[in-house]
Amino acid sequence: MGNEHSRRAAQPVTSQLSTRLTLRLSVTLGAMRFGPLNLESNLFLSPLAGYTNLPFRLVVREIGGVGLCTTDLVNARSLIEKNPKALKLVETAPADAPLAVQLFGSVPEEMRDAAIIVEARGAVSVDINMGCPVKKVVKIGGGSAMMTELDKTAALVRGMVNAVKIPVTAKMRLGWDDDNLTAPDLARALEDAGVAAIFIHGRTREQGFGGTVNLAGIRKVVAAVKNIPVIGNGDVISPTAAKKMFDETGCAGVSIGRGAFYDPWIFKRTLHLMRTGELLPEPSFNERVRVLLRHLDLMIEVFGEDLGCRMFRKVAPWYSKRFGPCHEFNKRVVQVATKAQFDEILASYIRWRQQFLDGEGELLPRFQPAPMVASFMREPEPASTTREHIPVPRGPVEVW
Ligand SMILES: Cc1cc2nc3c(=O)[nH]c(=O)nc-3n(C[C@H](O)[C@H](O)[C@H](O)COP(=O)(O)O)c2cc1C
Repeated sequence: MGNEHSRRAAQPVTSQLSTRLTLRLSVTLGAMRFGPLNLESNLFLSPLAGYTNLPFRLVVREIGGVGLCTTDLVNARSLIEKNPKALKLVETAPADAPLAVQLFGSVPEEMRDAAIIVEARGAVSVDINMGCPVKKVVKIGGGSAMMTELDKTAALVRGMVNAVKIPVTAKMRLGWDDDNLTAPDLARALEDAGVAAIFIHGRTREQGFGGTVNLAGIRKVVAAVKNIPVIGNGDVISPTAAKKMFDETGCAGVSIGRGAFYDPWIFKRTLHLMRTGELLPEPSFNERVRVLLRHLDLMIEVFGEDLGCRMFRKVAPWYSKRFGPCHEFNKRVVQVATKAQFDEILASYIRWRQQFLDGEGELLPRFQPAPMVASFMREPEPASTTREHIPVPRGPVEVW
């Protein structure tokens, strides 16, 4: 996938990773079948528009533990029209495998043709960003519209399934609101239409990105389908949260979005927890800095120094959230324009940070960041602020 230029640009990344990829193939526990695919882990990277680009996917893959990564949402028509932005979104490299591309669109022929393009470009599966069918029902107050909508959606999916050999999957929310939890019906209808797996974000449209993820709602979707895997999603920001989602929903896999941005090590640590019962410690400061620098290098490799550094302004503060005191870093990094400038900002921050360390070089207890706690693992009150940091995008949140 990707044009010649991007393929060349990404080449060095590939060779550095080949040994690690071979090693990771030996992992068997936590592996899963996914349509015709055998994934080495049942942990997935969720699509996060603007974030889950090639550099970030490579960072996550290098650390390990992830079974399948998905691109940002791609508009089916734009892909068919070879819109440069759409092509950049599906840019990949051999080390960026296995990869799913997520498509968005409502015209069946366009979704079908875009799926064919995605398959030809080497993706191992195609995911559909699924609209919430109940909106219409809520507006007109009847049930028949929902069935019509379900039939239409199933027909669109069938057209895609018949056109490609790779698995077609669907990602949806629980429904419009708590009184309209349509996901179980939709999941069953989509299974009949041939989807290979369902990704379910355990919130309703009305909840947006706040409130508690509804594990019982995810469990209902798991119970509704006959044979296909259901992958739970929402608010998994720690290995123990992933384990709780597995345990309480019976889901076959867990998909992680923002949690991976807080903590790209989450897949590796979760897989380890699931395999051994042992919770690995959080990565050290030095390890965080190593991966941060690797991420920046990849951003520059894929997007060029100017754009890569500008894009990194919103990425670096994710890493620093677990650095302890970090305002000295954040206030400067949001203006970074070159790699040399970044190196200088980091070096001066590391000097400044020393005042918060003990004799062993560890953060003094009072400066250590609080543990990450998922919505469904918190006491009901008070509302935590941990989920407020990734700006929720303007756009069709009802379909996410
Ligand atoms: C910044 C941002 C971008 C997102 N982009 C997409 C997207 O392109 N496609 C999609 O299906 N969901 C998208 N989502 C939803 C996530 O994939 C995921 O379902 C949701 O954030 C809950 O999971 P999490 O708590 O692990 O992040 C996005 C969410 C955020 C916060």
